[in-house]
Amino acid sequence: MTLPTAIAERAQVLRDQINYHNYRYYVLDNPEIPDAEFDRLFRELQALEVAHPELVTPDSPTQRVGGRPLEGFAQVRHRVPMLSIRTETDIESSGAYNFDARIRRELKLKEHDPPIEYACELKFDGLAINLRYEQGLLVQAATRGDGETGEDVTQNVRTIHSIPLRLTADVPPEVLEVRGEVYMSRADFERFNEKQRASGGTPLVNPRNGAAGSIRQLDPAIAAQRPLSFYAYGLGEVAGWEIPKHHGEILDALLKMGFPVSHERAVVHGPQGLVQFHDDIGRRRDSLPFDIDGVVYKVNRLDLQERLGFVSREPRWAVAHKFPPQEELTTVEAIEVQVGRTGALTPVARLKPVFVGGVTVSNATLHNQDEIDRLDVREGDTVIVRRAGDVIPEVVSVLKDRRPRPEPARFEILERYPVCPVCGSNVARQEGEAAIRCTGGLYCPAQRKQALLHFASRRAMDIEGLGEKLVDQLVDQGIVHTPADLYKLGIAKVANLERMAEKSASNLLAAIEKSKHTTLARFIFALGIRNVGESTAKDLAKHFGGLDSLMDADEAALVEVPDVGPVVAQSIAQFFAEPHNREVVEQLRAAGVSWPESAPGRKQQGGLAGKTFVLTGTLPHLTRDEAKDKIEAAGGKVAGSVSKKTDYVVVGAEAGSKLTKAQELGITILDEAGLMAMLASGEA
Ligand code: IVH
Repeated sequence: MTLPTAIAERAQVLRDQINYHNYRYYVLDNPEIPDAEFDRLFRELQALEVAHPELVTPDSPTQRVGGRPLEGFAQVRHRVPMLSIRTETDIESSGAYNFDARIRRELKLKEHDPPIEYACELKFDGLAINLRYEQGLLVQAATRGDGETGEDVTQNVRTIHSIPLRLTADVPPEVLEVRGEVYMSRADFERFNEKQRASGGTPLVNPRNGAAGSIRQLDPAIAAQRPLSFYAYGLGEVAGWEIPKHHGEILDALLKMGFPVSHERAVVHGPQGLVQFHDDIGRRRDSLPFDIDGVVYKVNRLDLQERLGFVSREPRWAVAHKFPPQEELTTVEAIEVQVGRTGALTPVARLKPVFVGGVTVSNATLHNQDEIDRLDVREGDTVIVRRAGDVIPEVVSVLKDRRPRPEPARFEILERYPVCPVCGSNVARQEGEAAIRCTGGLYCPAQRKQALLHFASRRAMDIEGLGEKLVDQLVDQGIVHTPADLYKLGIAKVANLERMAEKSASNLLAAIEKSKHTTLARFIFALGIRNVGESTAKDLAKHFGGLDSLMDADEAALVEVPDVGPVVAQSIAQFFAEPHNREVVEQLRAAGVSWPESAPGRKQQGGLAGKTFVLTGTLPHLTRDEAKDKIEAAGGKVAGSVSKKTDYVVVGAEAGSKLTKAQELGITILDEAGLMAMLASGEA
């Protein structure tokens, strides 16, 4: 039977597309489509070739590992080929069970034989590198290339501070090749891009591209400016060193020799252990400081690895279990603006809904006109959206060759919105500012609504249940104009609102009543003064001790506060110079909103002064915010991660790696009762 030509043609189209995108990704470091889209093309071709093996051509992209090296770098032949790992993308646990079953079958194990020991690791999302040490000295660093031949990037790799130039070992191995991933942390990526934007340079597309592009810079001086990191995960050629018998021990040894090795790893037994590791990392993926695209399982015993061997350039003893992608393709259905609390018109891309980063995304911020110009994003465009970590979804780039014809016009906020879409006031862009703002102030219902939502938010007055839908009604029906009006609400008015029953109405009133007892810092933050965030509000509360001295402070007095500069000082002074704002403050105080005041500038005398706490897990009674407030009220500090500077770690149910870290560092561990006792005694 001859093959239908339509299938043969489709395979050819796929090969061409995959080769093109492979070239953009591996050779130019400038991909056009997200990895998820590339994977789909690749899998479609693989499926066609499995169904019709006669379609496989020697140059099919399924028949090779990576891309071609660029011509600018010298080529390096890998003495031990750099292979890839088989990937499983299924979301359920079956991937782990299939892998374990395959291994047991290959090893001819019986049911009653003990479970296999696996080393579990993160699948870092960067660029694979081989580091060659001779007599303990770094002599060469090479990219993976096509697995057989890579590029010599020694000069660039030498600029990565975490990579040792000399091994820490009394008698170093004659030859030691260490393999691992060069990556860029999210914080470094954000910082670098902020700097690029400020200086008018081109920002990086994502951390992975940041790492790959930097390593393959022909000018090492430029590479040196890029903040890169490295994690080791394996070996290449080795001579004159007795290789440990387990993979986990190899990593321990590498750590001792000076290589960064992620502590997010575990040795587990059987497939349940794999699933547990997968799920644990999956839950914490967003809070890791760098991007990963999955986890990797490796058979821990090297003798078993050897027995298992390789199949078509992939080891049988390792598998990668991927997480859902953090970048996806979709289209921009419209560009609209939202009016924020400070009147800024923020352009928002309304997207065709797409599942990315674990949620369905239908909006992405475009930040401001400068960002729209940089991306040149237009209505109807096909774009890459990214959602990684808790970061709000962003448009990363536009696929210009998929732009509809005739081309839609460039998007200009001022052209489309000469007046505020909410209140009709004029909009204006002040010199030196990126934002275009509505000049309506609190006359503008959008700004009023945002101000109320901010006032009620968890870290401000913490009025539970006062959400967007309610605020919309309260403002639209003219019931609430300022935050002070919230404290005048009666049960009848609230119960009359849509979706409000007697019970929910009385819950809301109770929450409003409860919010009257607050702290000065929360109250200052709740006012929504421009440029005054949570931590500035805390500094101001600490420095002035009471509200009246803050309200009376002039700019000179305000810049005395640590971390308050002239811009922030001006915002505060302007806020309190506005009679309307003072009036709202007075109304709030008259309604019974109060807080304990202290002497101005008094150094925190709480018994926990100078002590740093870290919270982890779920406490039985206190929420995280409540525990934080209590510790801070007693003069202590609450930090996000455990370090040598941490004095106490407060643990609740399902505490994670912070607890392990605390135990490693020998830090005192408290439970909620212990914390409460410490607070009650007023002494750390
Ligand atoms: S081991 C023979 N471990 O994934 C096995 N690879 O397809 C060699 N990767 O581009 C790879 N994290 O750079 C291994 N913990 C890890 C990894 C890892 C990321 C990358 C590697 C390569 C791809 C393998």
